[in-house]
Amino acid sequence: MALRTRLTDILGIDYPIIQGGMAWTATAELVAAVGNGGGAGVIGAGHMPTDILREEIRKAKSLTEKPFGVNLMMLTPHIDDLAQLVLDERVPFVTTGAGNPAKYMPALREAGIKVLCVVPSVALAKRMESIGADAVIGEGMEAGGHIGELTTMVLTPQLVDAVEVPVVAAGGIADGRQVAAAFALGAEGVQMGTRFMCAAECTIHDNVKERVLKAKDRDTIVTGYSTGHPVRVLKNKLSRQLEELDRANKPEELEKLGTGKLALCMRQGDVEMGSVMAGQCAAMVEDIRPAAEIIAQVMTEAEETFAELGGRVS
Ligand SMILES: Cc1cc2nc3c(=O)[nH]c(=O)nc-3n(C[C@H](O)[C@H](O)[C@H](O)COP(=O)(O)O)c2cc1C
Repeated sequence: MALRTRLTDILGIDYPIIQGGMAWTATAELVAAVGNGGGAGVIGAGHMPTDILREEIRKAKSLTEKPFGVNLMMLTPHIDDLAQLVLDERVPFVTTGAGNPAKYMPALREAGIKVLCVVPSVALAKRMESIGADAVIGEGMEAGGHIGELTTMVLTPQLVDAVEVPVVAAGGIADGRQVAAAFALGAEGVQMGTRFMCAAECTIHDNVKERVLKAKDRDTIVTGYSTGHPVRVLKNKLSRQLEELDRANKPEELEKLGTGKLALCMRQGDVEMGSVMAGQCAAMVEDIRPAAEIIAQVMTEAEETFAELGGRVS
């Protein structure tokens, strides 16, 4: 099923599936594989130095002819340079998170670069639409990484009612039944992060993939509430230490302990003292397979779910 929506038209992709831009995790190999599989791959720029992001963009261009994006984290100190690079390299689209992209909107739009803004609330979605976002990605608190307060189930339909631009549902989506559910709520696409961590082409350390495969339903925890920047991770030694600092209300110590821990996990494979960012749906990830197969499988499942629904609700 091709399942064409306004999102597939805006991005020029076959299937309405975005691979979430994940810092230290979503590199050119994964991004290209997702694009070649008909979805939208997104490089997670995070705090990446400008030179490294340039290399990643060029590598992705060498591995696929398909459109791909870059996730820009607005709070990174050298965001001006990263935004300029995206303009110079004419990346087809960007997703934005953690801060306000208003300053960059005119230049991005002028260059024909589509902008999809990650939002945790209705108010922010409206603001992003008003500054020219092409779509909003509503991210529920089931998601891996930094989260807001609302669940995907509750956030998605409210966004659909509040904005005219297409809404993409993110957070907790790992299979086709959930894609169908997101569409039933009015979404025109989904963004998946945790599921793609276990794509064969994802370059994170094997220890992390194994940890995701072993995860059970209640294995994630949210730490960092005391800092105002809560993060969902798989429980481990680090998360227990962070939890204690949260309870003791020591946000500065918590920030300090958390610094550099995502790279330690994803690149060096330390799944005890590294930050194993992953969503609640980690429990649903059961195998490592090529990104194109993940996309084909969830689309088939979604199609089957739509067909079955007719029979179930007579
Ligand atoms: C390891 C990891 C790193 C992430 N890094 C970022 C990031 O740098 N920027 C961002 O906007 N979202 C980031 N996210 C969120 C994803 O882009 C995506 O929205 C989320 O994973 C969707 O929820 P799911 O994990 O339940 O599929 C990250 C998620 C994970 C699991």
